[in-house]
Amino acid sequence: MDIRENLAQIGEELKQELAQTDASQALEALRVKVLGKKGSLTALLRGMGQLSPEERPKMGQMINEAREKLTALLDEKQAQLAAREKEMRLAAEAIDITEPRDLPPIGAEHPIQLVLNEVLSCFEGLGFQVAEGPEVELDKFNFELLNLPKNHPARDAQDTFYIDDNIVLRTHTSPVQARTMLTKKPPIRIVCPGRVFRADEVDATHSPVFHQIEGLVIDKDVTMADLKGTLDAFAKRLYGSDIDVRFRPSFFPFTEPSAEVDLTCFNCHGQGCRVCKGTGWIEVLGCGMVNPKVLEMCGIDSSVYSGFAFGIGLERITMLRYGIKDMRLLYEGDLRFLKQFR
Ligand code: DAH
Repeated sequence: MDIRENLAQIGEELKQELAQTDASQALEALRVKVLGKKGSLTALLRGMGQLSPEERPKMGQMINEAREKLTALLDEKQAQLAAREKEMRLAAEAIDITEPRDLPPIGAEHPIQLVLNEVLSCFEGLGFQVAEGPEVELDKFNFELLNLPKNHPARDAQDTFYIDDNIVLRTHTSPVQARTMLTKKPPIRIVCPGRVFRADEVDATHSPVFHQIEGLVIDKDVTMADLKGTLDAFAKRLYGSDIDVRFRPSFFPFTEPSAEVDLTCFNCHGQGCRVCKGTGWIEVLGCGMVNPKVLEMCGIDSSVYSGFAFGIGLERITMLRYGIKDMRLLYEGDLRFLKQFR
């Protein structure tokens, strides 16, 4: 067969086969079949040895031109296949970000935190700032500067965890009062949330670790009426506008006079029920006018300034807020309980 015809036939065959090739592996096999060492075009080149010297350059040129054309055809197909394969890969790897799926479980804020947030936002609205103090506290701040000198009988009521003679786990958040008065000048308006510790039994209403929120206001002309107005605003914000506050005389060494404060029972609204033991009232906090002795010990002139203070049991108001009957539920981390606050 004439070389020219041969070349035409190789070209035709390649075109047909290319049309049926749809994978780059098959394309490579085709390239080898035509241009490889044992390929059909290579065989033609080998055959040139039999041609006459005059014919050789002409035929050589023709075969080379054919090789370029075939190579170009193969390359073009290769580019097509590569582009298509890339497209297919991208399509297979694509992520549909709109596809709905199971969401991971989401946690919830603890009921104590929920109530604390509410209390803080209430007092921040009244112009208070949040202050904090250490949980491991000096006897000086926890007791002495609050008018509870060593051997004072009222210390017994506090069931203190002692680290040593001078260091305790704070039994209340009141030491933050002393710390603040010693470092800030009046006017002072702070609330101090935090953990406190007492060597107490564990039962439905007691825990050795619990939370308090301390409040302190020091300024000129602060009176008991300011204290009552503040606590009234707090009670109504947390439990509703029909809730009243009631002051009962009491005693705390750091306040004079002192009071215990009851709120209208949230359960029966004052009618009397099991929650309030028939009285219509529930005790929630202690408070009073800051004892002038405390002001003086903390470097504040009691002839110029007066103030009030209060201490709220956070667990207690949380239990009242949500009708939780056993304090231990707040610490056990039982998801069946916690999920109800989502
Ligand atoms: N510290 C008291 C306690 O833990 C609560 C308290 C009562 C705080 C009267 C006060 C206050 O600031 O004025 O029982």
